[in-house]
Order: sequence, then C-alpha cells, then structure tokens
Amino acid sequence: MTMTETMEKRAGTTGRIQKVGVAGCGLMGGGIVETAASFGFEVVVREVSDGLLDKGLSRIEKSLAKAVEKGKRTSQEKDATLANIHRTTQIKDFADCDLVVEAIIENLEEKRAFYAELDRVVKPTAIFASNTSSLSITEMAASTGRRDRFCGLHFFNPVPVMKLVEVVRTIDTSDETYTEVAAFARALGKTVVTAKDSPGFVVNLLLVPYLLDAVRALEKGVASREDIDAAMKLGCGHPMGPLELLDFVGLDTTYYIAEIMFQEFKDGRYAAPPLLKQMVKAGYYGRKSGRGFYEYNA
Ligand code: 3HC
Repeated sequence: MTMTETMEKRAGTTGRIQKVGVAGCGLMGGGIVETAASFGFEVVVREVSDGLLDKGLSRIEKSLAKAVEKGKRTSQEKDATLANIHRTTQIKDFADCDLVVEAIIENLEEKRAFYAELDRVVKPTAIFASNTSSLSITEMAASTGRRDRFCGLHFFNPVPVMKLVEVVRTIDTSDETYTEVAAFARALGKTVVTAKDSPGFVVNLLLVPYLLDAVRALEKGVASREDIDAAMKLGCGHPMGPLELLDFVGLDTTYYIAEIMFQEFKDGRYAAPPLLKQMVKAGYYGRKSGRGFYEYNA
C-alpha cells in the first residue's frame, strides 16, 4: 500500500484524533513518532533538550532512509513523514494535540510531575496515554483532572515493526477514550489487545519470568548462552532467543521492570537473578552499552 493510500485509509478509520503529541524521543518515543508520522498524523515531539531531540530525530531519519534504501518507501514518503514531525522542548506546544502519548523516563514521580503540568496546558478534551511497561496508569491519571481521558498505550520495540499495542484501561478510563485510542492504534496498522491496569499488563506479565528463567538457566550452567538462545529460536520459533532479547530490550530496563513487578506481586518468578543484577551494576546493559550477554561492536 502506498503512503497516500495508507493516509486515505487512515482518514476513514480514525476518530477525532488528528494531532498527536509524543513526550520523549528515545527508542520507544522515537518509534512512536516515526510510526504516527508515517501514517499521516501530525506529530509534535518534545524532549527536555535540543541535544536529545537531535539524537532522536536523527535516529528516525536513519530508519526512514533505510526503508527508502530497501525500496519499502519512496523518498517522497520519507520527506512527507519528516514534514509531519514538529520538534519542541516546551510542554505548552502540546496545547492543541488531541492525544498525547508519553514515553519519558520510567519513574513514577517524574511522570506524575509531567502529567500535572501537561494537564494545565493541554486542551481539556485531549486524551493522555502512557507507554509505560510496568508503572501504574491509575496513579499517573490521578495527578490529572482527566482520569476518564487517560489510559495506557504500550508499544513494543522496534515500534515500526512490532504489530501489537496493549491498550490499558483503568477503572476510570471512559468507553469513549478506550474506543478512540484503540482506533488510533489500529490506524497505525497495529493489532490491539486490551488489558486492565495490572503490572506488566499481558506481555510483560508473561515475558519477564521467561527472560529471568533464561538467566537462571545460564547461571545454573544448564546450557551455554548460544544453546539457550538456539533452543528457543529453533525449538519454539521465536525470532530471538531470550538472552539476545534481553540484550535487545536492555538488561537495565528488564531488571527495572522485574523489580516493580516483584514489589507488586511478591512472587519469586519476578525476582531478578543475581547474575542479571551484577551485569546491570557492571554497566552491561546489552546492545545499547556494547555488551550484555553478547558483545557488540559499534
Ligand atoms: N525500524 C523499522 N524497521 C525495522 C527495524 C526498525 N528499528 N528493525 C528491523 N526492521 C525491519 C527490517 O527492515 C526488516 O524488514 P523487511 O523484512 O521488510 O526487510 C524486518 O524488520 C526484519 O529485520 P532484519 O532483517 O534486520 O532482522 P530480523 O529478521 O532479525 O528482525 C526483529 C529483527 C524485528 C527485531 C526480530 O528479531 C524480532 O522480532 N525480535 C523480537 C523483538 C521483540 O520481541 N520485541 C518486543 C520486546 S518487549 C518490549 O518491547 C516491551 C517492553 O516493555 C520491554
């Protein structure tokens, strides 16, 4: 489907969401910006500094350039996508967005402070959606005066490729909000699953114990890292083995999510194994730091 066809299709399927704000232009925020802009949405992206904006936007440009190189997009489509993206360091530039998707640092206090300010400057009809993977959506919503227009919208890495989005409803999320946000996710070509606001939602509830078990298997010497990964790739048809996936997602990120889930459930399945903790403390975060379970050259 050409981009023009995609945009026409989108115009017929979305509700009132036309202008989208994205807070944070890291790996996830940048992926959301790229995807929404490539499907014809006008996107305002905000980072805390121009340096972080430069870094995030150059990652998006590279990803689009790669798509052109591979013949998946035309260079006109790349230019049209980039023209849909407006950069800012000011929260007030989200004022007339219909939806603001937040993908800032995974810290509840920082998110609550962000939402309190956002609530003051963005039009009252706008919907807020957090891309958090494990923090409480209900607690974030409670720092705003629009709990009914608040939900989780959890994307997966790499955002332009992964077909799933979890739409997370709190006890306060209205039916209208849910319907509009789910329609937005579908307009990005994603399949929606609906989850309640419970730590890890669906995917991380099941994925995190699996990843931690792979580290436990390595720790116990059950098999080598290569064999653990080969076993799950070839034995179960996973695109990546669990240790490769840990390197891809980030050992620090997984450790952090596991800690939050362990605090909530007090269940040993979510307790980070010592090896994972040691690797995080040593700065071996995976691909992003050049070393995790495997080594990566720049
Ligand atoms: N942006 C756009 N396209 C990308 C991309 C990116 N960042 N990365 C890969 N692609 C595209 C490639 O262009 C290629 O497209 P093509 O087949 O049309 O040419 C396709 O994806 C496959 O890429 P590659 O050939 O380069 O490499 P692989 O076949 O090894 O696929 C992968 C890479 C898609 C990452 C695949 O290994 C995979 O699906 N891995 C599992 C990822 C996963 O499980 N993600 C979820 C993590 S959990 C999470 O995010 C939740 C959080 O809360 C922790």
